[in-house]
Amino acid sequence: MNKETLTITDNRTGKQYEIPVEDGTIRAMDLRQIKTSDDDFGLMSYDPAFTNTASCKSRITFIDGDKGILRYRGYPIEQLAERSTYLEVAYLILHGELPAAAEFEEWTWEITHHTLIHEQIKKFMDGVRYDAHPMGLLIGTVGALSTFYPEAKNIFDAEKRSKQVHRLIAKMPTIAAFAYRHSVGMPYAYPDNDLSYTGNFLNMMFKTTEVKYKPDPVLERALDVLFILHADHEQNCSTSAMRGIGSSQADPYSAVAGAAAALYGPLHGGANEAVLRMLNEISSKANVPAYIKRVKEGEVRLMGFGHRVYKNYDPRARIIKQIADQVFAVTGSNPVLEIALELERIALEDEYFVSRKLYPNVDFYSGIIYQAMGFPVDMFPVLFAIPRTSGWMAQWVEMLNDPDQKIARPRQIYLGYEEREYKP
Ligand code: ACO
Repeated sequence: MNKETLTITDNRTGKQYEIPVEDGTIRAMDLRQIKTSDDDFGLMSYDPAFTNTASCKSRITFIDGDKGILRYRGYPIEQLAERSTYLEVAYLILHGELPAAAEFEEWTWEITHHTLIHEQIKKFMDGVRYDAHPMGLLIGTVGALSTFYPEAKNIFDAEKRSKQVHRLIAKMPTIAAFAYRHSVGMPYAYPDNDLSYTGNFLNMMFKTTEVKYKPDPVLERALDVLFILHADHEQNCSTSAMRGIGSSQADPYSAVAGAAAALYGPLHGGANEAVLRMLNEISSKANVPAYIKRVKEGEVRLMGFGHRVYKNYDPRARIIKQIADQVFAVTGSNPVLEIALELERIALEDEYFVSRKLYPNVDFYSGIIYQAMGFPVDMFPVLFAIPRTSGWMAQWVEMLNDPDQKIARPRQIYLGYEEREYKP
């Protein structure tokens, strides 16, 4: 009969060990018993970018990178994008089930009634230079929120924790829009409780002198779908940062600031901004082959291509391409779209990209849509951080309730000097 174990022979000593296999995984601590002598520390595994190490057990998001599958709590992303709303998906991710009508009403009320930020926060935001990158301002401001809600430190009090979850999901769009308006010198536009989550965000971004801002329903829905696609993505860089910081029992505002900082990098949530800058640099369809050549020579990366887990295609990129058509029907096409389509066409036929399984990821087209909707390039990573907040919160709560979790503290392989004498 097959046994759910792994037998390891240590060729250094000739000893054999039998290690349990659970959920297709061995426990790294089971390796520690493998020693060459009594004073040997024991075997460790080396995995610098966590490419094959599970850091947690999770029930939130499932990805099969080879098949191009993404599901939140079991629901395929395609169905959620077609039939759900961002706020409903945020509820699902956090609570594990889709809400009943009354639950959804209460949830929507809570989020809608926590969108205002303390007036003092505005002063904090006013303190940065007019040309501050809105992502830097978002990171700083969300971290500063912890000073306004000291009770957020009570992370094991479920009621207080829910309050911070509501506040964070509700206030991120407000801070994001205020960061934008600060950068363009426009007066802040306050939340409008009559509007949907994304409708209100568009209001806070783009309202000028009209008494009541009316979001375009196509753009409002397109943004909502983009938010659904960005809500969670299991243990990516920023979520690992959220869990890592949260594991020291820091308050959620500090942890979200750290997660957002991880998201900011061009290899993660900053890629959508980098894609647009790349398309602008290429500037015309005729220059695409020369740019592909530079990519293949290792001089530059094709931003918006490749993914650590998707080695077939990114299912979010497919949905985004459909949204692009709907948005462009309202806004007119984005001139860089032609360059993007040509890049994709050449890359998908080219041996370099095919052999490395490099396909467009979620960020390849999202920036082009955001730009057509009127968002400046600087705002793109911010537009990622807003919906990802629900994922960060869900993963954080799951971690706090997981008895297996402790403060995150990896090991190292020390290759430095042995002990040596101090010489004055
Ligand atoms: N352009 C050109 N070559 C690439 C690219 C790219 N975008 N991505 C990977 N490669 C090549 C690498 O050079 C490497 O080639 P080699 O085997 O000849 O050395 C091979 O493909 C494997 O790449 P790795 O860097 O090992 O893949 P990894 O899983 O570490 O990186 C990542 C994944 C960071 C997403 C990478 O593909 C990349 O930098 N892409 C561009 C940035 C981007 O779009 N990031 C957004 C990701 S989606 C998200 O975070 C929401």
